Amino acid sequence: MLASKNILLIIGGGIAAYKTLDLIRRLQDRGASVTPVLTKASEEFVTPLSVSALAGRKVYRDLFDLTDEAEMGHIQLSRSADLVVVAPATADMMAKMVSGLANDLASTLLMATDTPVLIAPAMNVRMWHHPATQRNLAQLKADGISVVGPDEGGMACGEYGLGRMSEVPDIIAAIEARLSDGPLKGKRVLVTSGPTHEPIDPVRYIANRSSGAQGTAIARALVALGADVVFVSGPADVPPPEGVELVRVETAQQMSDAVDAALPVDAGVFAAAVADWRVASASDRKLKKTRDGMPTLEFAENPDILARVSKMTKGRPGLVVGFAAETDDVVEHATAKRARKSCDWIVANDVSPATGIMGGSENAVILISDDGAEEWPRLGKAEVATRLAARIADALGTQYKE
Ligand code: CTP
Repeated sequence: MLASKNILLIIGGGIAAYKTLDLIRRLQDRGASVTPVLTKASEEFVTPLSVSALAGRKVYRDLFDLTDEAEMGHIQLSRSADLVVVAPATADMMAKMVSGLANDLASTLLMATDTPVLIAPAMNVRMWHHPATQRNLAQLKADGISVVGPDEGGMACGEYGLGRMSEVPDIIAAIEARLSDGPLKGKRVLVTSGPTHEPIDPVRYIANRSSGAQGTAIARALVALGADVVFVSGPADVPPPEGVELVRVETAQQMSDAVDAALPVDAGVFAAAVADWRVASASDRKLKKTRDGMPTLEFAENPDILARVSKMTKGRPGLVVGFAAETDDVVEHATAKRARKSCDWIVANDVSPATGIMGGSENAVILISDDGAEEWPRLGKAEVATRLAARIADALGTQYKE
């Protein structure tokens, strides 16, 4: 709930601006009050009248509007909020924020504010992937700005890909997480999840049976404790949690790159079932049956993401949590894995088929740390996640391994 929270909503000039009308409504349903600010460009997409009617208050539009200055100066306006939300955050708006431009009301408010800022980017897929936008995104994150989305999907311009503004429930979850007074407030946590797919040719791939359920539950539990969660997910069966910064990947190499892009973080939870090998040279054409018999596949080793991050001398997360999926001698193998990969904790589980854990809804884990092996009872995956998130909060709260 967002009872008595004040949100300054800066509506950027993109087609996704229409979603902010619904966002205002839903924020109010949760008890928040919304002060809307329109840019010149956003007035092409939503009208000041509809925005102010929904918000039930004045819409701020112009830096030089003297009445506004008399009522509430822009400095005060920018600071009276608990959170500044920019939705949609266009490529132009992000670039302005990075450079510190202040040539209209929205950009001036963003420069003048001392309250946390959350942006919901929305733009064409090519604009999103453009190196300039990606550079700006990295800088905004480094400046402490929270990001929700964008999502993948069809766009108003007819193209498909990453760049759609997050759906309203996701933006609300991100706002709630940012305003939460939970123990992980202000902490940035990375979670990898799901399987990876390693291509053989354009139509075939090597995969594993991970559903992504445990990683998703962990991310959700971390969000509930107020963390800013970067969720790097392979092609999972379960939908991603709300309120995370979602990065979808397919292969281990892409997951490794996405993890690097997400750093620095306070903690990293590596729940993904990453393929250890990939096909050395995946064919760019479909492999055909030939008279000469079956093809021989050669493998190359994938990067071990967990080990690489754990062994970083610069930028290592304060807490690194790995998983060990074993089918026999669970504690022994997992303890050896923890030492080999240099992570702080290993969450070990028995994934032999008889346990029904892989792809199932329950998990029986053993938490291995410096304190030894601690066996947890068989619990639902959501409950395992809640316990683990609480332990992570404890560890970060006590400045674990600075
Ligand atoms: N992991 C990773 N990158 C890889 C392989 C594994 O980050 N290329 C991480 C997983 O996310 C998990 C941990 O390492 O947190 C253990 O994964 P697991 O598959 O159990 O270990 P392996 O390294 O494959 O070891 P083994 O084959 O001996 O079981």
